Amino acid sequence: MQEKEILQNLREKFSELYGDGDVALYFAPGRVNLIGEHTDYNGGHVFPCALTLGTYAAVRKRTDDKIRMASLNMNDAAVEEMTLGDYTNKAEGSWTNYPRGVIWAMSEKNFTIPTGFEVLYYGNIPAGSGLSSSASLEVLTALFIKDQYGFDAVEQLDLAFLGQTAESDFVGMKCGIMDQFASAMGKENAAMFLETDTMKFDYLPLKLDAAKIVITNSMVKHELASSEYNTRRSECESAVQDLQAKYDIKTLGELSPEQFEEGKDLIADETKRKRAKHAVYENDRTIRAVEALKQNDIATFGKLMNESHVSLRDDYAVSCPEIDDLTSWAWEIDGVVGSRITGGGFGGCTVSIIKEAAVDTYKETAEKKYQEKYGKKPEFYVVDPGAGAHRISQ
Ligand code: GLA
Repeated sequence: MQEKEILQNLREKFSELYGDGDVALYFAPGRVNLIGEHTDYNGGHVFPCALTLGTYAAVRKRTDDKIRMASLNMNDAAVEEMTLGDYTNKAEGSWTNYPRGVIWAMSEKNFTIPTGFEVLYYGNIPAGSGLSSSASLEVLTALFIKDQYGFDAVEQLDLAFLGQTAESDFVGMKCGIMDQFASAMGKENAAMFLETDTMKFDYLPLKLDAAKIVITNSMVKHELASSEYNTRRSECESAVQDLQAKYDIKTLGELSPEQFEEGKDLIADETKRKRAKHAVYENDRTIRAVEALKQNDIATFGKLMNESHVSLRDDYAVSCPEIDDLTSWAWEIDGVVGSRITGGGFGGCTVSIIKEAAVDTYKETAEKKYQEKYGKKPEFYVVDPGAGAHRISQ
């Protein structure tokens, strides 16, 4: 569906649910990470871009203390109602924990909403695909609350932090800042090189030399993601503690591969050593990949993407057989510059850079082999980097 149709549908359904009247419309994108995976909570670098896919909201403030939330993607748009006093209670297993978490995170910063609102969401990111549908929902909610209630002190970058706090401290997935950052700060045709330690970042125009960014959805939902994710995170933190016997560091992102090699035997546990190795080398790869892109050296960028996948597969253990097949098949095709798993892992998507002329061959080959081996079709999205969260003028 085109944006125009999405918005029209959203308005119509909003009126059916909540009655006629003015509504405000907002959008926040999902993201794809090109390289720099599982580095953000390790103080390292990431290189994502925002997508044009994401989550929309139609919103209207109320004068009483009711908050009403519905989503066209969930439970036939059934409305969940809460009152101002109890919005911070988690709803067992409900998607509304993401927006509830944002309202909570904002109130913790003294941006407390004085009246309720009604909202209808619609998202076109496939859920569980690792393209940050939840971050887009969080950033979107923070944005419309800021805008509707006039919390002018909340800056665009703050939307990312508020979303991350909601996800980490309310929903319980101890995520880094990458997804919410990309959703809030995205820019058309540019990727973002972010140093998560300092939050310094640069926009880099994506000149891919007649190549496209192709996302392939394995259709394996990354359900294990949050518990395994939190485990990876604590394994890295524990490795840092071991390394502190030699290095004055707070995060793995502070170490070069050479320093890691010199100190790695301090990490007694082999699994933790592998996790730490990934974090250190992936950070280094990300810096080198961006350097290569600046020199228009797409081939090196692609090679580093492939190395990133191998490391995520073997050392970080966040891939799965379906994704490993998709990447291996991609690597064999002429014109595929690079291909790797993207996002948190345990299913979800691959991201590939593919010469325009080879995109169709890639899609046909991947679809045929995947269908034969797994009895299902992958989905493909050829994407361009999109803008960050914004209000849609009407
Ligand atoms: C998830 C998290 C991010 C990041 C990625 C892995 O998407 O939300 O913060 O850690 O996994 O790179």
